[in-house]
Amino acid sequence: MAESLKEKPYTARGTDAPWYSGWDISDVERERFRQTSLASGAAKARAMRGECDVPKLPIPTPRLDPYTLMPKLRSNGLSALSLFSGGGGLDIGFDRAGYKHTASYDILPMVEGLLKTARPRWKVFAGDAGDVTQIDWKPYRGKVDVVHGGPPCQPFSHGGSRRGAADVRDMIPELVRAVREARPRAFVCENVSGLATKKFEDYVQQTIFEPLKSRYRIQMITLEAADFGVPQRRKRVLFVGFADKEAADRFQAPRPTHTTGQTTDGLLRTMGAREALGLPDIGFDGLAPTIRSGWTGPRNTTSVVNSATSANTWAQLRIWPNGVAANRVAASAFVAKNGDFRLSIEDCMVLQGFPADWPFEAPVYKALGLIGNSVSPPMGYAVARAVAVALGKSKPISTPSAKRERAS
Ligand SMILES: C[S@@+](CC[C@H](N)C(=O)[O-])C[C@H]1O[C@@H](n2cnc3c(N)ncnc32)[C@H](O)[C@@H]1O
Repeated sequence: MAESLKEKPYTARGTDAPWYSGWDISDVERERFRQTSLASGAAKARAMRGECDVPKLPIPTPRLDPYTLMPKLRSNGLSALSLFSGGGGLDIGFDRAGYKHTASYDILPMVEGLLKTARPRWKVFAGDAGDVTQIDWKPYRGKVDVVHGGPPCQPFSHGGSRRGAADVRDMIPELVRAVREARPRAFVCENVSGLATKKFEDYVQQTIFEPLKSRYRIQMITLEAADFGVPQRRKRVLFVGFADKEAADRFQAPRPTHTTGQTTDGLLRTMGAREALGLPDIGFDGLAPTIRSGWTGPRNTTSVVNSATSANTWAQLRIWPNGVAANRVAASAFVAKNGDFRLSIEDCMVLQGFPADWPFEAPVYKALGLIGNSVSPPMGYAVARAVAVALGKSKPISTPSAKRERAS
């Protein structure tokens, strides 16, 4: 392995990356993909010159404003330190839930521009300065209430090779080290739901529970983004630990505030993807499939499709999830061949629960890399609130099931 890969496994890409495995396809298939890609590039160039193959679609105005899913709360007096901050999904959630931002760390240099533009007062360490493997967290001891982070998910996700601890990108031990050194009152560690499967039971026990159990009571919970109003199917596992026994006993996994069901039972309704994006009624709507990162797989991509099933759902929604455009204007000028609505970065932000003013100003695959890797901010908000409630710093969220429980 090249020296640089040992140092920066996460940012290494292409055929030199240690996790690279080429597509197992024949030369004929490879050539067919190449021709498709060339034809698509040529069609895009024609569209950008105004020579449309397919008539332009009107530019929709989204009906969902993700800020409404996470109303800004007053300061709760708690501070939060963010590791693996990426696009800032968890950071937004903690910020909106009333936490004071201590600092954000990420190895990608572009994270500094993004988070500092979004929140100029935040302290952001990015690139070499943000490499968590090089940080001594002890100076944060006694100065930070909550440590949170979503370490890279590729070692555990079905889109990756699921090599767990054998994958050089496994950074969960680094989050555990940060918690041991900084000794916050609570911590949150987020990852793909694949980490909660039988395959990783021993890993979870040995890597998260064992090293932390002398100081923290830890619960593993799974959350679905659509339960918090996000128009996307996106299940995630979270490990939430408390140093204080009473806080651990008080902690309850966030209850759904929204539902996609026919009967709402007092919950708010999660919009379908088409409704959220402001697209015309076609007699069918539903949740968007899980949006994948532009950095999934051996090559960068501008497609958000993560499986054959998800491709079918996008097709039913009449939404074209490949060749995502930089913005809505560019997307409307380059309609998909079949006339389906082409996604843009702005639309992917809505579907992931990012507010419209979050400044993802980067080439499309990089912006999609951050968006598809992120914690959906309303889900981050829900867990941030639940942690504050357990720490006695916030009132419980009033949901119908919580009200029923209090009354009984
Ligand atoms: C799953 S993403 C985190 C997403 C983020 N929690 C959010 O909500 O948007 C994982 C992040 O870990 C970062 N990362 C990987 N290795 C790292 C390291 N050694 N130090 C700091 N960050 C690292 C990646 O750059 C990536 O942004």
